[in-house]
Amino acid sequence: MSPAYPWKTVWITGGSTGIGRAAAIQLAAAGVKVAVSARSAEKLQDIGAGITAFPLDVSDAAAAMACVARIESQLGDIDLAILGAGTYAPIDIANLDPVQFGDMVSTNYLGVVNCLAALAPGMLARRAGHVSWIASVAGYTGLPKAAGYGPTKAALINLAESLRPEMARAGVAISVINPGFVRTPMTARNDFEMPFLMTPEDAARRTLAGLKKGQFEIAYPRRFALMLKALRLLPYPLYFRLIDRMVLK
Ligand SMILES: NC(=O)c1ccc[n+]([C@@H]2O[C@H](COP(=O)([O-])OP(=O)(O)OC[C@H]3O[C@@H](n4cnc5c(N)ncnc54)[C@H](OP(=O)(O)O)[C@@H]3O)[C@@H](O)[C@H]2O)c1
Repeated sequence: MSPAYPWKTVWITGGSTGIGRAAAIQLAAAGVKVAVSARSAEKLQDIGAGITAFPLDVSDAAAAMACVARIESQLGDIDLAILGAGTYAPIDIANLDPVQFGDMVSTNYLGVVNCLAALAPGMLARRAGHVSWIASVAGYTGLPKAAGYGPTKAALINLAESLRPEMARAGVAISVINPGFVRTPMTARNDFEMPFLMTPEDAARRTLAGLKKGQFEIAYPRRFALMLKALRLLPYPLYFRLIDRMVLK
């Protein structure tokens, strides 16, 4: 076991770029065995020593099941899974496309459910393990352009809250990671100012520190997360006035 972290084997989905890749590199540098998944096998190659590629489309439940079996037979039982595979597309109110909404639901939400369903039987039998998924501060409240993405992230927060108590009694930890804006391929196309923008390395450091402490919610930057949580508590007339002024100016 690495002296820095309490896990021998960690699986990261969405591990080829951004936050997932940075977390894989930091864990492997500390001596943890890391399995990384994403659709593109090419982007998973040569991330670093101690990091093994297991290509997977998380929207395919049977493939997720087979992937977990492959990882566990090659690297040993998964102690921690960080489910970060995700996709974002802004919603254009003049062209509401159900396919676009469906893509975000099958990757962001069902992708987590598929991986969790593959991990749970082994972890429950061992009465050990930790599954964490990356939602977003965009899941706290509805935000302009995020009508497709936001609901998937709100669902992920709710999923974690729903499962945490029962899973904890069965010996399995559940937690949720809610980042603010992070400079990754996902946000590279944003044409608006992103407050409190962080590097993926910093996001990964905060994620791993929170996971190590056993926090249920790992939200960062703290100030931005608190601001958005406070927004959720406002009466709607005031809430929409602020959104109009701050976001749609
Ligand atoms: N960046 C931010 O500001 C921010 C803020 C809050 C939350 N988040 C969340 O953090 C997570 C990581 O985001 P990031 O910014 O690091 O994104 P990113 O750099 O765009 O990485 C997304 C990752 O997900 C993989 N992926 C996408 N669809 C997949 C699928 N169907 N099956 C398997 N893998 C898939 C991508 O690889 P392939 O394309 O090869 O599959 C890639 O590895 C996401 O869940 C995102 O929603 C990001």
